[in-house]
Amino acid sequence: MQLKLPSKLPYLILLSVIVVYLYSTILLQQSSTLSATVTTTSSSTSVSCNFFQGRWVVDPKFPKPFYDETCPFHRNSWNCIRNKRENMVLINSWKWVPKDCDLTRIDPKSFLGLMRNKNIWFVGDSLNENFLVSFLCVLRVADVGAKKWKKMGAWRGAYFPNFNVTVAYHRAVLLARYEWQPLKSAVDSEGSKGTYCVDVDIPADDWATVTDFYDVVIFNTGHWWGYDKFPMETPLVFYRDGKPIFPSLGLFDGLKVVLQSMVSYIQKELDTWFNPSNNGAPHGTEIRLLEFSHLSEFRADAHPAVWLGKRDAVAIWGQDCMHWCLPGVPATWVDIFSQLTHNRFETR
Ligand SMILES: *[C@@H]1O[C@H](CO)[C@@H](O)[C@H](O)[C@H]1NC(C)=O
Repeated sequence: MQLKLPSKLPYLILLSVIVVYLYSTILLQQSSTLSATVTTTSSSTSVSCNFFQGRWVVDPKFPKPFYDETCPFHRNSWNCIRNKRENMVLINSWKWVPKDCDLTRIDPKSFLGLMRNKNIWFVGDSLNENFLVSFLCVLRVADVGAKKWKKMGAWRGAYFPNFNVTVAYHRAVLLARYEWQPLKSAVDSEGSKGTYCVDVDIPADDWATVTDFYDVVIFNTGHWWGYDKFPMETPLVFYRDGKPIFPSLGLFDGLKVVLQSMVSYIQKELDTWFNPSNNGAPHGTEIRLLEFSHLSEFRADAHPAVWLGKRDAVAIWGQDCMHWCLPGVPATWVDIFSQLTHNRFETR
């Protein structure tokens, strides 16, 4: 029997829907739907503590961020210290305190030790890239020889030589494959120029072709599912099995269907990867929802806003009220992710 035999087995799959406050109402609804999916497909019990409910407190004794404006992995417009964003000290004095559990700060050295010879993969839109940059800068503290890494279609990433760990981001804003299709006939259908055809059942090539390399995957999607990105003249049209879905789906139903079908795609692939006949290595995979949306929503103070580093950037792009200053709120995502990962690997 032909089985797909990757050289390495992904141990853990994590799903994140990171949401900014502009889109929160829509996506909170979506993420509760997704939660349900994830719970039923999860193959092992979850950690009893919920890191995603809690409150922010100002803690002047909270240790300083792990890195500053000199981290070589920065993306300019998120480098708020260098761009002289006001209140950076205060922004980084807020500490997320989960309701029923202790959130400890990541220990970069022990995290990299735990991940030795493994690779971590971020897939999604620029908010996951934002998460990645924060992660790379934190981990670099434990391995200053970290080098930029951009292979296999990665947009951004780093290799940590002392631990043989790669952490990288692949861009796939909708997660599913989509393609521009210009209008064929000259018959004008109410100003439409063409459509973006989304195959709800086919993952984007950007990530589907490199699954063998990675052990831990963090997915996100969110802010591309809006009419600002895909207005009525150039809408998304959803396909399944290569045929248009009928009746046609609106944008937000499309998001729901894509998330469900990506989760079942991963589930199905992994069932194959984890088939016990595959080296007798039934590692078990876990899919978890990282609900960073809720805790981040309180932190409208921590966006790059007008501090984008370039003159006229605001005139051209507008303020950035979506990504997060680095260092800043994503440090908390890193801490939660690290703790969940420790819990997961150390109890096995
Ligand atoms: C580094 O890790 C990869 C797996 O990601 C493994 O195949 C390789 O043998 C490791 N290299 C060393 C030098 O340990």
